[in-house]
Amino acid sequence: MAAIIKTAEEIEKMRVAGKLAADVLGMIEPYVKKGVTTDELNQICHDYIVNEQQCIPAPLNYGHPPFPKSICTSVNHVICHGIPADKKLKDGDCINIDVTIIKDGYHGDTSKMFVVGKPSIMAERLIRITQECLYKGIRMVKPGARLGDIGHVIQQHAEGHNYSIVREYCGHGIGVGFHEEPQVVHYGRPDTGEVLEAGMCFTIEPMVNAGKRHSKIMPDQWTVVTKDRSLSAQWEHTLLVTANGCEILTLRPEETIERIIEH
Ligand code: MF3
Ligand code: CO
Ligand code: CO
Repeated sequence: MAAIIKTAEEIEKMRVAGKLAADVLGMIEPYVKKGVTTDELNQICHDYIVNEQQCIPAPLNYGHPPFPKSICTSVNHVICHGIPADKKLKDGDCINIDVTIIKDGYHGDTSKMFVVGKPSIMAERLIRITQECLYKGIRMVKPGARLGDIGHVIQQHAEGHNYSIVREYCGHGIGVGFHEEPQVVHYGRPDTGEVLEAGMCFTIEPMVNAGKRHSKIMPDQWTVVTKDRSLSAQWEHTLLVTANGCEILTLRPEETIERIIEH
């Protein structure tokens, strides 16, 4: 089964959903401080998504077992799918907040890294290189390019800095479905994999570890951690393939990369 090509009407709905997801990350930023619990961050996001945005938080009750919260909060060696809990954030903690909202039937999915207080040099570097991996992947997106081209530049950049790429989780097509085809892996070889076409929407969301790439799932069946307990970072955007490049549907005002990339 191949990727769904979105119509002009669907693309407009994806733009709206993408902007709303991005807005949640902007809204939560001032609350990501020492002493706050990830549960409190979840509650603030949930209330904002439901009451202010009139959207549905896609993670809530998603999957099996049903995900119990409205956002994912992945702290330090947690790679992804961290479940908000009553543990307080402390100085130096690195946290990925992953927001997915549904508006008018369409999903917007995005995540960013926050650091509590002053980041260590090590954490700052991992977080920066991981965002560069995302941006390098985004710059490959245009009709005729192939998924392997995206994976390749991401893998090269991460491994070139002696980091590793998580293999078990990947980006994905997105639209009416949270996780549509295709799977967008963050490693690979140029000139391989599905060919991109205008009208496709998918995420790129590299997970980069400071140590080895291997992961394990905790007994809660959601929380994914690095096997060697090394620090892990992730950034995610939802993209639209345009006639000559791509549009970043979840771009935030603080970002310096262009919303519309033309080749
Ligand atoms: N937002 C995640 C992604 O980028 C998926 C989270 S699934 C959940 O694909 F159930 F954990 F929320
Ligand atoms: Co995603
Ligand atoms: Co996500």
